[in-house]
Amino acid sequence: MNQDRVESLAQFHPFTRLNKLLEGIQPGGGNTPLLLSLGEPQFQPPAFALEAIANAKELWSKYPPTLGTMEFRTAAKAWLMRRYGVESAFIDADRMIAPVSGTREALFHIALSAVALGAPKGKGKVLMANPFYHTYAGAAVVAGGEPAFLPAGPETAFLPDPDAVPPALLREAAMVYLCSPANPQGSVASADFWQRWLALARQHDFLIAADECYAEIYTDLPPPGAIAAAQASGSSDNLLVFHSLSKRSSAPGMRSGFVAGDARYISRQAQLINYGGVAVPLPVLAASTLLWSDEAHVEENRARYQASFDLAQRALGPIFGNVKPGGGFFLWLDVGDGEQAAVELWRQAAIKVLPGGYMARVDADGRNPGAPYIRVALVYEPTQLAGALERMAAVLGSVMDSGDRMRISGRGR
Ligand SMILES: Cc1ncc(COP(=O)(O)O)c(C=O)c1O
Repeated sequence: MNQDRVESLAQFHPFTRLNKLLEGIQPGGGNTPLLLSLGEPQFQPPAFALEAIANAKELWSKYPPTLGTMEFRTAAKAWLMRRYGVESAFIDADRMIAPVSGTREALFHIALSAVALGAPKGKGKVLMANPFYHTYAGAAVVAGGEPAFLPAGPETAFLPDPDAVPPALLREAAMVYLCSPANPQGSVASADFWQRWLALARQHDFLIAADECYAEIYTDLPPPGAIAAAQASGSSDNLLVFHSLSKRSSAPGMRSGFVAGDARYISRQAQLINYGGVAVPLPVLAASTLLWSDEAHVEENRARYQASFDLAQRALGPIFGNVKPGGGFFLWLDVGDGEQAAVELWRQAAIKVLPGGYMARVDADGRNPGAPYIRVALVYEPTQLAGALERMAAVLGSVMDSGDRMRISGRGR
């Protein structure tokens, strides 16, 4: 990796930039600091999962198999069938599902295989929305590929429009990362969106990495899945879907998820794990098997996020209009100047949020499409959030009134 690439990794990491922005500023207002910058659920995973890990203690002495256990793959398959209406015959659990030690890690690894396959054929580009989850760009760079950013602002309903991608870019693509519900915007892809991207991926021979780690947290209807679109097309070719227990089961510390889809890529992913990845430990797989088989704790979790979004709507609706996302647990608020708002929220109210510009790159027009926004992770108990959201409204109201511009429309969604 050349020096520029190493520096771009350090320079663009959103939390490195946030720490620098807030360096030396005291959290104010006499409030206990509340970190709404990081998407880390602050709830406990269900007790039965922790018991399952404890009960499987004799398995810590064993190396875990790369593809996990049959019980795990069967539970993951059954969940895909329940959640997305996928038929049993469509998924061969032994060839099309692999447990992963966190989807972040798996999303990173997949670029290593996709770029290694694509680059010798002149297909070294890694496509992603702008703004985007930072791992995608980091993975593209480390894999020796070239990130290519697709507009995903209000003009494209906060998702990358497949019809707007220049054909030359599609021909050079090794892969595309697509996230639904999207981090940070909370936008939800339709079945048609997935169908159109799948058609392009097959026409131009690139891989879709469908990051659906927020699939279980939504406002009204369950977000359509890429795997269901693949089934409707009759094939899982060129598609991998990534699912996680971090958000679904509030268990980010377990580092447990799975990847499913095109068997050719699953076997490449397994090879990477064999050489230098982390296979999911057997006690964690035992707990994960139970978690993918249970819906009650997920419904409870979803209800908690709903309560938080209701509070956010009440506090921030008068300023922003609709703030509730279609899915995921982030508010994505157009505050005019995301960095200024982040500084003032920290200085005046001890609330840490992420400036949206830190999740985006400057586009061809010289504009950072995330810069007007802040991302707010509603990952605490609603009771902990209620006062904070009121304080946030007071600070944002005054920051925006005193700002050099006040936009009347298009602030929220
Ligand atoms: C869009 C997106 N994808 C993937 C991940 C990674 O989740 P995990 O590695 O915990 O499964 C996150 C975590 O914040 C995320 O926001």
